[in-house]
Amino acid sequence: MTIQWFPGHMTRARRQIEEKLKLLDIVIELLDARVPMSSRNPMIDEILRGKPRLIILNKADLADPRATDRWISFFSAKGHAAIAVDSSTGTRVADIPQRVKELLHDKIARMKEKGMNPRAMRALIVGIPNVGKSTLTNRLAGRNIAATGDRPGVTKGQQWIKVGSELELLDTPGILWPKFEDELVGYKLAMTGAIREQILNMEDIAFFAVRILASQYWEALAERFELTEAPQDTEDSEQIVKLMEDIGRKRGCLLSGGRVDLEKVSGIILRELRAGKMGRITLEEPLL
Ligand code: G4P
Repeated sequence: MTIQWFPGHMTRARRQIEEKLKLLDIVIELLDARVPMSSRNPMIDEILRGKPRLIILNKADLADPRATDRWISFFSAKGHAAIAVDSSTGTRVADIPQRVKELLHDKIARMKEKGMNPRAMRALIVGIPNVGKSTLTNRLAGRNIAATGDRPGVTKGQQWIKVGSELELLDTPGILWPKFEDELVGYKLAMTGAIREQILNMEDIAFFAVRILASQYWEALAERFELTEAPQDTEDSEQIVKLMEDIGRKRGCLLSGGRVDLEKVSGIILRELRAGKMGRITLEEPLL
């Protein structure tokens, strides 16, 4: 999905979520486990205004599991429950309703005390484009994708999707914008494929990717592209370009005259990185 975010779109996106908050017991904030900070909306705390929240680190199958554990501890230390899932296969998705129930334990207990039959808890999934909102919704809904009908106060046509007997999801997830102001964030999102459009030059993104991989995941990079010589200094741009050229030669990306076709090799590097072909990689660590 390609979205050009202008101030008007951001205001509308924010308002759409704020209007739904009163209908919800909890918000499910979806982040990309490879870039948990860069895939986070910069205004999320302001928008959710203290509404109970479960953070989901999605695409955990593509992220470094040790880094994912560190991120879960980081969010817990900040008072946010967080779990890692892979929505594409459904791994750990089944834990979500249970975690929601735990987080809303007091609310459910109060309802019971008042003699009310505890109803299903109502949730909205929010996140930036391509983080996996639809995939997770479909996983959670399973065969129950049939909606449960309109409710008072909800925009006409707004449907709730049943997830077992204790959780209901609003059928349209909340789409939020990422942090654009930081160029580094833009590169990281482009590396994961969250930004698909040609806002950033592909060779620049691949250069940035190779620099990160060479400094943090050299073995994975070397193994994938049969590289033997690690760069001495990954801050030296020439050494990174040389690595890209080595990769290009290995993959036969040559122009007439024997020069390496950097555009072509950039495409290969990014495609393979996004598909997890270099193993499980996390591009940012929590600042503890
Ligand atoms: P959105 O609603 O938040 O915009 O995201 P959506 O569910 O459409 O997911 C975006 C892409 O991410 C989809 O790939 C989807 O299959 C993939 N995806 C979602 N969750 C996971 C996950 O946990 N692990 C992995 N590995 N992939 C996940 P797609 O439509 O095929 O697009 P693309 O692969 O061509 O980028």
